[in-house]
Amino acid sequence: MLIHDIAELRQALDEKGAVGFVPTMGALHEGHLSLVREAKKQCECVVVSIFVNPTQFGPSEDFSKYPRSLESDCELLRRENVDFVFAPAVETVYPKGFETYVEVGSVAEPLEGRFRPGHFRGVASVVLKLFNMVRSDAAFFGQKDFQQVRVIQKMIDDLNVPVRLVVCPTVRESDGLAMSSRNRYLTPQQREDALVLYRCLTKATLRICGEQNVDLAAVRREMEQMILAVKGAGIDYVSFADPQTLQEVHSLKNLEKVVLLLAVRIGTTRLIDNRVMELGDH
Ligand code: PAJ
Repeated sequence: MLIHDIAELRQALDEKGAVGFVPTMGALHEGHLSLVREAKKQCECVVVSIFVNPTQFGPSEDFSKYPRSLESDCELLRRENVDFVFAPAVETVYPKGFETYVEVGSVAEPLEGRFRPGHFRGVASVVLKLFNMVRSDAAFFGQKDFQQVRVIQKMIDDLNVPVRLVVCPTVRESDGLAMSSRNRYLTPQQREDALVLYRCLTKATLRICGEQNVDLAAVRREMEQMILAVKGAGIDYVSFADPQTLQEVHSLKNLEKVVLLLAVRIGTTRLIDNRVMELGDH
């Protein structure tokens, strides 16, 4: 059932059992649907929101051209037996006079925070608003957006938001490319070129696993060279970071895990990916 209005949503969810919530910006693919399926497993009632949030896009980003396909999205969700699709209008979420934002601390600063100033302020603000509208017991997010998960968890902890965050693994195409609504911008050649992200993750895993003294700077340079060898590709960042703080790490000594995070431009399309590496045998 499609709902646009907050009061109507509240009424529909009244006296439902455990509610699971999957926030999205639509243009749904199997990655989104994996979150929906996990929510269906864990909760009696599932709400999916579809809202392209203007406050998380920078002035030169793709807000106006971001893919919008409400009808086919609703059809996909109907087939998954989702109980409610919440698709509010921009004026419903940001009525005239709106001026309160959530600023999450240091986990929001590096990486995406550096290359997309204001992005996480927009994400945290809209997610908290959606949490307050839906009042779900659990909310489902994808590891694909690794830093986003850290930012939302930090907001939940710091502001005592009464919701349980569930993180689901990244869903990939059969050749390894992480599914993303932005993949549809890629030409066939760029679609091939985009595989360099997955190749970097795989190569880095080989370099790091089982090695006691890895020269991380050298591995990073190798990744950068692989990316720059692709015509038309540009690097925003290649970062080995602490999975909790997202601060850059320079040595793997005494670390249990490290996360490799990539943000790469293929033509004008910006793609991100990541992999957490367990360093158990160090
Ligand atoms: P969107 O990019 O539509 O993603 C919605 C959710 O789907 C996010 O939790 C994202 O991590 C997850 N997701 C996307 N691709 C995935 C994949 N290949 N595998 C697994 N999960 C995947 O993220 C946003 O929207 C927005 O920032 C939002 C949280 C809705 C706030 O506006």
